[in-house]
This record gives sequence, structure tokens and C-alpha cells, in this order.
Amino acid sequence: MARQIHIGQQPDEALDEAVRVIEAGFPIAIPTETVYGLAADATNPAAITRIYETKGRPQFNPLICHMANMAMAEQHAIFDPISRKLADAFWPGPLTLILPLRQESPIHSLATAGLDTVGIRIPKGFAGALIERLGRPLAAPSANSSGKISSTSAAHVEADLGQKIELILDGGPAPVGVESTIIKVESDGSVRLLRPGGLVADEIERVAGVEIVRPATASAAIEAPGMLASHYAPGAAVRLNATSVHKGEALIRFGGKPLTGEADAVAVLDLSPSGDLAEAAANLFDHLKRADASGATTIAVASIPNAGLGEAINDRLERAAAPRS
Ligand code: TXA
Ligand code: MG
Repeated sequence: MARQIHIGQQPDEALDEAVRVIEAGFPIAIPTETVYGLAADATNPAAITRIYETKGRPQFNPLICHMANMAMAEQHAIFDPISRKLADAFWPGPLTLILPLRQESPIHSLATAGLDTVGIRIPKGFAGALIERLGRPLAAPSANSSGKISSTSAAHVEADLGQKIELILDGGPAPVGVESTIIKVESDGSVRLLRPGGLVADEIERVAGVEIVRPATASAAIEAPGMLASHYAPGAAVRLNATSVHKGEALIRFGGKPLTGEADAVAVLDLSPSGDLAEAAANLFDHLKRADASGATTIAVASIPNAGLGEAINDRLERAAAPRS
């Protein structure tokens, strides 16, 4: 079991212990507004290696480097005008920008998987304060075993990684609930969506002033190896766009709409009875984990509107349902 410190109850203790463990070169779980992250010093190769080992993640899949503020971000990456506009509008927040890495940056090549670009994000709240105090960027993938469902609570992290890490900081349920939106601005000024996420694409288009380029298929978005089709995989099979429930299945539905056969379901969970996509995103990973824990062999999922945050929700559901390698 990892030691847990509640940030709301013991803010000073949380910050001091986080700094101590990170400076000793070990990853810790921290809350961010999107999902919980497994964070370590982005300039320390031994610490980064421990992130990959703890997650069982292949080292060719680069990590997002989290910054405290724009001044820190500019020490490590080169901003084109559109990326800068997006950073000004949406940081701190659920947006990751892929940018050219500065040659003089001390971010270790293990964090970027040797690429000449770096994924950067300024998170809200405690994570930002922690990075400010450390004075160095934190590499942090989502705090889950590679390929499994991301964690949106300290309890999720404990269940998945509690045997492998020393410290989990509890900041309550992650308010956004899906990972950051990943954007890369190309040298011709086109804005590519590498991963839909907690920042709605429409808002990005409004600020960038151009239409976002979406990959034709999920696998076409594999910019960095490791953005694999199968991800977020529960133990149970996942059946999408269900219009009825088969015996022995668990059901995840939306908008308070009952489905035929749900009386026989092993479990029935509603992502948002009132049909609110932000609430559905916040509940998504928790409901997938609960449905999985119900003992059902298949999780049936009703269709979710694809507008706004629905794009990120459907992306995660498609990966959860993808054939597993
Ligand atoms: O909300 C989030 O983004 C969370 C929190 C903890 O910040 N982090 C997160 O990290 O989702 P992770 O490692 O689970 O996903 C990061 C994604 C991976 O798909 C990786 O391939 C991609 O970002 N990525 C990182 N650096 C990249 C780069 N230089 N070029 C292209 N993709 C990159
Ligand atoms: Mg992840």
C-alpha cells in the first residue's frame, strides 16, 4: 500500500513529502484537473526509468512534461505564434502542445523518447504549485498500468499501482476526467488534433482561427509510437452503441435513457442521468472500472453524442473496445 496524503487536509505536508520523494528520484501519484499523473523529475533519467517500469510502459512512448508557468515552458520548447495563442488562452488547463524541444533543455531524452519534440502542458492547481516549488518540469503520464484505464481518484491509483509506489497525493476526484487534448501545430500553420481530450476542439478552432485537422482513423493519429488503438482496456469485453442489454452484461448508459433488457444486467451505470457531457467525462473511467469489477464478461455501452466533450469520450470508448494485441 502507498502512503496517501490528502491535499485539502494537509497541504503543507503534501507539498513537502512530494518534493522529498521526487528529489530522491522516485515517481509519485499526483492529482491534475484531467486525470491522476505518475510524476517524476523530467531531468532525472533514473526517475524517468522508474515511471516506465512502474507503468510497464514501452520506453518508445514519450511522456508529457508539465510546467509551472510560461517562463518555464519557454526554457524548454520553441513556440510558434499559433501555439503561443493556444497557450495564452488555455493554460493552465487540459491542453498539451507538441513543440520543438530546445537543444539546451535539460529534459532527459528518456522523457521525450529521443524525439526532437516535447509534449508540454501547464496543469491547474496543486500540480502547478508543486512544479513551481521544484523549479523543474515534471514528466507525468497518466497514473495507470500501461494499456489500462486511467485513474481519476486516489483510490483508483491505489488499486492499480499502490504496491509499486511510495506516495499518492489525494486531491479528490479529477474534475475533467479525461486526459488533455493533444495538439501539434505544423510548420505550414495547420493545427493537428493528435488526441481529443478535456479541451473541446471547437474552442481550439475559435482561438487558432483555423479548422483543426483530424486524423482519418485513430491509428493514423499515431504520431508517437505508443498511441495505440487498444488502450483503456478493462478486463471485460466492451460492446459499443448498444441498443439493448444481453443477459450477464453490465450496462453503461447516458442521459437517463433505459435500455431494453437492463433489468437482467449485472450492473447499470449512467454517465450522466441529465445528459451533461462534462459530467459524463468526469464519470467515464470510474464507471468503466466499476462495470469491470461487477464481474460481467461484457460491458455494453449505449451511444454517446459526439459533440463537444463527446469526441474525447467516444475516442476512449473506441480504444477500450478495440481488439487487444
Ligand atoms: O491529461 C493528461 O494529458 C495526463 C495528465 C497526467 O497530464 N497525461 C497523460 O499522459 O495522458 P500519457 O502519457 O498517458 O499520454 C501522453 C500522450 C501519449 O500518447 C504520447 O504518445 C503523447 O502524449 N506524446 C508525448 N510526447 C509526445 C511527442 N513529443 N510527440 C507526439 N506525442 C507525444
Ligand atoms: Mg495514459
